Amino acid sequence: MAAARGGFSSRLGFILAAAGSAVGLGNIWGFPTQTASNGGAAFVLVYLVLAFCLAYPAFMAELLIGRYGQANAVTSLQKMSRQAWQKRFAFMVGFGGIICAALILSFYGIIAGWMMSYAVEPFAKMIGMQQVSEWVITQGIARNVLFSALFMFLTVSIIRSGVEDGIEKWSKRLMPMLIALLVLLIIYVMTLEGASEGLDAYLNPDLSKIFEPDLLVSALGQAFFSLSLGTSVMIIYGSYIGKRENLVSLGAQVTLIDVSIAFLAGLLIIPSMYVAQAQGVAIFAADGSLISGPSMVFSVLPTLFEGMGAMGLFVGFAFFILMSIAALTSSISMLEGPVSYVVERHDIERTKATTGIGFLIFLMSTIIVLNLDFMLDFVATLATEYGQPIIAMLCCIFVGWIWQRSELLEEIKQGNEQVENSLFWKIWPWYTKFVCPVAIAMVFIHSL
Ligand code: PFF
Repeated sequence: MAAARGGFSSRLGFILAAAGSAVGLGNIWGFPTQTASNGGAAFVLVYLVLAFCLAYPAFMAELLIGRYGQANAVTSLQKMSRQAWQKRFAFMVGFGGIICAALILSFYGIIAGWMMSYAVEPFAKMIGMQQVSEWVITQGIARNVLFSALFMFLTVSIIRSGVEDGIEKWSKRLMPMLIALLVLLIIYVMTLEGASEGLDAYLNPDLSKIFEPDLLVSALGQAFFSLSLGTSVMIIYGSYIGKRENLVSLGAQVTLIDVSIAFLAGLLIIPSMYVAQAQGVAIFAADGSLISGPSMVFSVLPTLFEGMGAMGLFVGFAFFILMSIAALTSSISMLEGPVSYVVERHDIERTKATTGIGFLIFLMSTIIVLNLDFMLDFVATLATEYGQPIIAMLCCIFVGWIWQRSELLEEIKQGNEQVENSLFWKIWPWYTKFVCPVAIAMVFIHSL
């Protein structure tokens, strides 16, 4: 499968790399927190429906753009364009996605750095370095810069080695580790007092909440973030897939893995919160809302681990390593978007491009760290609530309105000869043309 510009050497390689991009802090941190703050199981139900009905079709659009173009996001979109204005539009969409990926990485790297620092804490305690263990979990500029630099260093090291020896090799190593750690932690938490109450809150939906607009907006945003849409990432990963592969089924498998891991993460985090509650940690306010919201992972869970004594050190270490791995398989995909663009369009050597772009994004992270109070939220909102939905919508418009239907069919048919007679081909083109852009626009406008 590998061509001169690199590519995934196997089907499994692609599935694990794309699932690695999709499965990240969004699944293991974002999804359970959103679930807990948005009425438990009702959110899960809406999320599942939106992930398959809206995010999957948009995900397919991006994969197809990439495989057709066999190039970075800008070049791929331009190959589909015939007129000059379309080529300019292609540049805007493709480059917009690349900037979006870089912006996400600049704040994601900081949060991933926190995950690493929380993994170091129990380890430092175990080996008797009390002061270090306290320093690494205390908010501070030096701590934040150090750990985001460390995380960026790991990301750059993998991307420098290219698609097969970097992304694919490491996704194949890290993803099985991630799944094993997740399952082991779930099994352990299920044995603790309070877990069954958490399970109940997670799995019994309050159906009256399902059509609440805020819940819909949060669930769709979460689904788009989780599938890494609107960032050029799935276009570039699509471009590394061989023409013999059946994209329709590959895309569905990745979506299924992504959704399943988010679901599993909920099985770990929500019961853990109730276990913490059973141990006397307050997690809900009097009005039933979640007290600590997104910072729950750094407040409730460490308290829970502490209450477990010596065992808690191992569990805490495993949990934050799990988080760090999830973040790393996502961050490499974010860096690949800009790197592939610079390598292919400006003929810069891959190792130089990776180091240079990694450094620039790290500088951006440092600026955020220096102004953490307002910039973290600002950059995250800009990239994920504005950038991602707009770019993802424009990609659907590209596929639905600009790409010639006959060319689109020819592309999908590669690796899937029978697709013309399938349900997918009856529904998806129409869906991508009308339903996806309108639904995304509606949700976007509501969120404003
Ligand atoms: N999908 C990742 C997560 O759920 O954490 C986040 C992500 C990865 C967003 C790659 C954007 C991206 F380009």
